Amino acid sequence: MGIALFAITQLQAQKLTKDNIDEIVKALSLEEKAKILVGSRNEMFGGGAAIGATQALVPGAAGTTQGIERLGITRTVLSDGPAGLRISPTRPNDTNTYYATGFPVGTCLASSWNTELVTNVGKAIGNEVLEYGVDVLLAPGMNIHRNPLCGRNFEYYSEDPVVAGKIAAAYVNGIQSNGVGTSIKHFAANSQETNRTGNDARVSQRALREIYLKGFEIAVKESNPWTVMSSYNKLNGSFTQESYDLLTTILRDEWGFKGIVMTDWIGQRNTAAQVHAGNDLMQPGQPVQSEEIVSKVKSGELKEADVDACVKRMLEFIVKTPRFSGYKYSNKPDLKGHAAITRQSATEGMVLLKNENGALPIASGIKNIALFGITSYDFIAGGTGSGDVNKAYVVDLMEGLSNAGYSVQKDIQDLYEKYKAYQNAKINSEQTRSWFMGKPTLPEMPIAKTFIEKQAKGSEIAIITIGRNAGEGRDRKIPDDFNISNDERNLLNDICDAFHAEHKKVIVILNIGGVIETASWKNLPDAILCAWQPGQEGGNSVADVLKGVANPSGRLTMTFPVACMDHPSSRNFPINYMGPAFDGFGYSRSTNQKDVDYTNYDEDIYVGYRYFKSANKVVSYPFGFGLSYTTFTYSGAKIAQAGNDYTAIVTVKNTGKVAGKQVVQLYVTAPSGKLEKPACELKAFTKTKELQPGESQVITLKFTGYDLASYDEESQSWVTDAGVYNAKFGTSVDDVFATVNFNAKALVVKAHDALKPAEKINKLSLK
Ligand code: BGC
Repeated sequence: MGIALFAITQLQAQKLTKDNIDEIVKALSLEEKAKILVGSRNEMFGGGAAIGATQALVPGAAGTTQGIERLGITRTVLSDGPAGLRISPTRPNDTNTYYATGFPVGTCLASSWNTELVTNVGKAIGNEVLEYGVDVLLAPGMNIHRNPLCGRNFEYYSEDPVVAGKIAAAYVNGIQSNGVGTSIKHFAANSQETNRTGNDARVSQRALREIYLKGFEIAVKESNPWTVMSSYNKLNGSFTQESYDLLTTILRDEWGFKGIVMTDWIGQRNTAAQVHAGNDLMQPGQPVQSEEIVSKVKSGELKEADVDACVKRMLEFIVKTPRFSGYKYSNKPDLKGHAAITRQSATEGMVLLKNENGALPIASGIKNIALFGITSYDFIAGGTGSGDVNKAYVVDLMEGLSNAGYSVQKDIQDLYEKYKAYQNAKINSEQTRSWFMGKPTLPEMPIAKTFIEKQAKGSEIAIITIGRNAGEGRDRKIPDDFNISNDERNLLNDICDAFHAEHKKVIVILNIGGVIETASWKNLPDAILCAWQPGQEGGNSVADVLKGVANPSGRLTMTFPVACMDHPSSRNFPINYMGPAFDGFGYSRSTNQKDVDYTNYDEDIYVGYRYFKSANKVVSYPFGFGLSYTTFTYSGAKIAQAGNDYTAIVTVKNTGKVAGKQVVQLYVTAPSGKLEKPACELKAFTKTKELQPGESQVITLKFTGYDLASYDEESQSWVTDAGVYNAKFGTSVDDVFATVNFNAKALVVKAHDALKPAEKINKLSLK
C-alpha cells in the first residue's frame, strides 16, 4: 500500500522530458490523450477560448495544441506560412508592432533554382518564427502545378516534383536550423481550390507516385520536416486525413517519416478514422473531437494503441519545440537584415523572358520613365489567403524606380493615383473584401492614344506592369486572368506603337503569382521580365534587375503554354465553374459534378513539360527557360558512375561582359521498356556561383538509380530498366547543350499496393 502510494505520487510529480515519453504516455488518462490530439481552436478567432484558455499565445497564429499542465506538457503554436510568418501585426492595448517580413512567393523562390539561397531565406523566416514565439511554420506549400489555374500555385513551386522536392527540402532545412518546425503541405493531390474540401482527386497509382507524391518523398528524405499537413481533399475516394495508405503505409513505412501529421484546418470529420490512419493532430480543433476519440475507444471502434501511437509522436514533437524548453523570445527579429535578404533573393527568382535590342539593363543615360499599368502603382508583393504575410510595408515599382535614381512621368502617376483611389473606394464600398481574400487585382485603366503619344515624346523609355493576384479558396479563370484583358491588350499595342515610333524601348513587367498567356503579345515589347510576386521589397528588387545591379538568373519552374487549354489537365479542371466565389471551408454538396466533386487526372504522368515535350506541342516559354545579361559556354559534359550513384559533370564559363549565375538542368530519356515514358524528365539541377566575366566553374549534379525508376503498377514497385539512358544537359527543356549516353543497371524497389483508385481513369497515352 505504502509503496503503491509512493509510486502514484512519483508518477504525478513526473514532468515530460525527452527521455520519459513512454512513461508519460502511460501516465495520461484517455481524456488527456484525446486532448493532446486535438488543437485548441483557431488563434485567429480568439484563440483557445474553446478550451478555456484566457488569451491567445501569439495573436494571429493559425492554431495551437493543448497542454496538460500536471505533466509539464506545454501548448505549442502553429502559424502560416509560406512567404514569411503570418501573425497579427498589432495587439489590443499594446503599442508595439509585430510585423513579419514578406518574402518572395513560392514560385519566385523556386524559380531561383538555388537551394542555398532558399535555405538562407528559410533561416531568416525561421528566425522570425522563433523570435515571435511560434513553434511551427505551416509551410512550405509544395503541391504540383497540375494546371496553371490553381489559385494557390503562387505558394507552390513547380510542375516538376524534383524541383518541388529539392526546393522544399532546402526551405525546411533553413527554417528548422532555428530549432523550430515546418509543416510540408498539402499532402496530397490538393491541385485545385474549387471545392477543395470535398473534391475527390482520382489519380493513377503511377501518377501519384511519380508526380504528386514524389516531391513530398524527396522533402521527407532530405530534410526531416517536423510535421506534414494532410490536405482538405479526397484522394481516390477517401479523405487524405483518413488514409492509412497515405499517412502510414507510404509516408511512414516506406519513406521513414518520423514527425507528426496534422490535418488542414477542417474541423470535425471522422476523427477516429483520422487517428487510425496516423493523423496525429486535428486542427484547428474542437472539444467534440476529443470526446469522439474517448467514446470511440470506449466503444471499441478505435484502438487505444492507435491513440497512444499518435500521442507518443505528439510528445516527441512537443519536446523539440522552443515553447517546451521555455525559450525567451524577443519579439524583435532583425527585420532590417531580413528586408535585405528578401530584396536580393527576389532578384534571383525573376525570369527574363525576352530581351531584344539591348533593352535591358536600362541604358545608363536613361533617367526618365513613362510608367504604365495600374499594378506599377499598386504592386503585388504576395498572394491572398493564409499565405498573405502581415508586412510593415510594400515597396511598389514607382518607389523602387525612384529609389534607384529614375524619375517617373508625373502626369502618368497622377492619373493612376486618382484611378487607384477611385477603384479602392469602390471596392471598400462594395465590401467585397474580406480579411482573408485580400484585395482583388485592380482592373487595368484604359488610356487615350493621344495621351500615350505625348508621353512617348516626353520620356525616354516605357515600362508597363501587368499584374495578377489569386489565392486560397478559389481558382483562376481563363478570360481576363490567364488571358490578358482587352484594356491590357490595347495598352500594350498603343504604348509599343507610340514608343517604337519614337525609337524608344518598351519593357513589360509581369507581377504575377502564376502563369498567364504570353504568346499573343510577346512580340510587341522589347523586353519582358517575369518578376513574380517578389515580397515586400518588390519594387526595389525589380529596379535592381532593370538597372543591372542584379543580373536575373531565374528560370521557369513551369511551362508557359500558348493557351491554357493546351494543358491536357485543362480538360479536367473546373474551368467554367461559376459556383460560390469562395469555397472556403465548408462546401457541401452531393451532385457528383465533374471537376467540382471529383476530378479525373486523365493526363496521368503527362503534367507540364512531360506532356509538351512528349506530344511535340509548341509552347510560349518552355520549362526551365530564362535569359541572362551575360552569356555562357559549356564544356566537358560527362557522367561518372559508381554502382547505382551517378554524377554528371560539366564546366560552365561566363563568356559575357558582366557577372552572372547559370542554372544547369539535367534531363534524362529512358530506353524503351515495358512502361510508357515521357520524352524526358528532370533528374537533377544546380546553379553556379556568381561567375565573373571569363570565370569558369566545374559543376556536379548527382542522381541515383532509384531516381531513374518509374512506378510499375503491375508489380507495385519502382523499376529502373537496364539499358542505355540519354542525359541531356540543358538550360531549359528545349535548350540542350550536350548529350551523353550512359548505362544503367536494373533496379527494383518493392513498394505497397496503396491508394488504388476506386474509379476508372482514362489515362492519356502518347504512344
Ligand atoms: C490552409 C492551410 C493553412 C491553414 C491555417 C487552411 O485553410 O489550407 O494552408 O495552413 O488554413 O491557416
